[in-house]
Amino acid sequence: DNPGVDPRAIAAEAAAVIADKTGVAQHDIALTLGSGWGQAASSIGELIAEFPASEVPGFSKPALEGHTGTIKSIKLPSGRHALIIGARTHFYEGHGVRRVVHSVRTAAATGAKIMVLTNGAGGLNPAWQPGTPVLIRDHINLTAASPLEGATFVDLTDLYSQRLRDVVQGLEPLDEGVYVQFRGPHYETPAEVKMAGIIGGDIVGMSTALEAIAAREAGMEILGLSLITNPAAGISPTPLNHEEVIAAGKAAETRLAALLARIVKEIA
Ligand code: 6GU
Repeated sequence: DNPGVDPRAIAAEAAAVIADKTGVAQHDIALTLGSGWGQAASSIGELIAEFPASEVPGFSKPALEGHTGTIKSIKLPSGRHALIIGARTHFYEGHGVRRVVHSVRTAAATGAKIMVLTNGAGGLNPAWQPGTPVLIRDHINLTAASPLEGATFVDLTDLYSQRLRDVVQGLEPLDEGVYVQFRGPHYETPAEVKMAGIIGGDIVGMSTALEAIAAREAGMEILGLSLITNPAAGISPTPLNHEEVIAAGKAAETRLAALLARIVKEIA
């Protein structure tokens, strides 16, 4: 959080610790596993190493159920290496945006060229039942924050890679949507959800957009996937409840793990 320190330097330190702990000099792809996506690691390849994220410089202690708080290194059937980040710092925790995107910068520093960002989120499309995976096509960042500092005018055209989305669509046809990141931690009001729809949004959540921006700055290609855990406020008549969000994630976990394994096999 020290403005005198370049966050990339801390990410480089973190990457060196990860290389040391895993014995893997270079990771090729990185995945951040959000609510509902946590089981995916076990199905994509062979576990090489697993350790608490808090043992790596710059990572905070896990704040949330639904996140494992661990980092894993997986060897894919192709021989390539995947870094699995089961720890996410949310903007609403109040540690600042540098903390939020530290895992992405660390992934880039380990050598990862592809960043897969997953999350559990609310859906605006009433046809999306809880448990539906949706491909993120673009985002709207309503946090009023940016992970970039100074004059870094990064282009965000094709932020969520058309190439990667085409690969996924070729494997399994998924609906696509525009992800709207709110600050949270409260869920949106029905009026805010309505606004999100009017401005072009389809999915509401509290992560991912800031991470995607940092991943793009770091030169990575990005794939974004949301698990719809519930209809957003006002879309369904029933109030939202964090336990139900977690339960919807758990119920979908096995299916999502299989989907993610096929995706990673194809793109890495
Ligand atoms: Cl409805 N909103 C937000 N911001 N995050 C969510 C959600 C809704 N459902 C799951 N995560």
